[in-house]
Amino acid sequence: MSKIQKIAVLTSGGDAPGMNSAIRAVVRKGIYHDIKVYGVFHGYEGLIRGEMHEMKLGSVADIVHRGGTILKTARSEEMYTESGQKKAAQQLMDKEIEALVVIGGDGSYRGAQSLSKLGINVVGLPGTIDNDIVGTDLTIGFDTAVNTVVDAVSKLRDTATSHERTFLVEVMGRNCGDIALRSGLAIGAESILIPEIPFDLEEVSEKLLRGYRRGKNHSIIIVAEGAGNIWDISSKLKEVSGLDNRVTILGHIQRGGSPSALDSLLGATMGGKAVEVLIEGKTEVMISYYNNQVIERPLSIAFGPRDPFDQKLYDLANELAI
Ligand code: F6P
Repeated sequence: MSKIQKIAVLTSGGDAPGMNSAIRAVVRKGIYHDIKVYGVFHGYEGLIRGEMHEMKLGSVADIVHRGGTILKTARSEEMYTESGQKKAAQQLMDKEIEALVVIGGDGSYRGAQSLSKLGINVVGLPGTIDNDIVGTDLTIGFDTAVNTVVDAVSKLRDTATSHERTFLVEVMGRNCGDIALRSGLAIGAESILIPEIPFDLEEVSEKLLRGYRRGKNHSIIIVAEGAGNIWDISSKLKEVSGLDNRVTILGHIQRGGSPSALDSLLGATMGGKAVEVLIEGKTEVMISYYNNQVIERPLSIAFGPRDPFDQKLYDLANELAI
């Protein structure tokens, strides 16, 4: 087995804090092992157009603490087509790049899988705030997003208590309730509405009223974006409870900011592991944080059934917000 000589790295899908740390690790560990590392700009869109250049040690200086991705990112429709995939693979082959590290969500992993079928070695790194990638307990960016929500809600609490109001706070996560559940439990939300568990607004209202009768003067309800339309939830809740409420949609602010120490560490360790497995000649793998370790697992796991929902954590959140 001859040692790998050239690899490329790209970020794809929604950006996530900690991606820069992962890019830095891939570049520096690659160079440390005498591998040429190419940075691909604008995700698969850029790859199809051949937007890449060789990265040096200095290319990744002073980025580890910055949010976003220095490589830029995009969601590529063309990469879902056979011709797009062939163009992308050809761009890599023209430069004799043998392997690609893809940092992104499961859509990005699909692109990687298609390149693998065309002869490119691929490794996927879970980069998304949503924590919705099957096969890893954590994704790069999730912890920072949860911290951002916690920080924002603590500010909302000031105005909520002053006006004695109920706030509905919408958080991101697509069809995954992890940001909502973790942040909701961390801030002691009165209710947490997530796509994984059906909810009854009569019960939510009952809990609210119970709280107010007991002397609570404000309430925070965290609503995952996948749980339903927040404006409908808000008006129905007003109707059944007779209480006024306000809606705050945190939106893309959850994707920004410096990575937490955990996300920075995940980026560094996962990026390092990606280069390690490529040196070992492995391909079609994902790097996962699994059972408190950073390990490689078959990429196909990411396309399988969802990891079991953390019912215990959800139950605990409810028990604490009695
Ligand atoms: O996947 C990350 C994410 O931020 C989701 O939480 C959200 O639903 C989506 O991306 C928003 O996408 P866009 O950046 O295209 O608005």
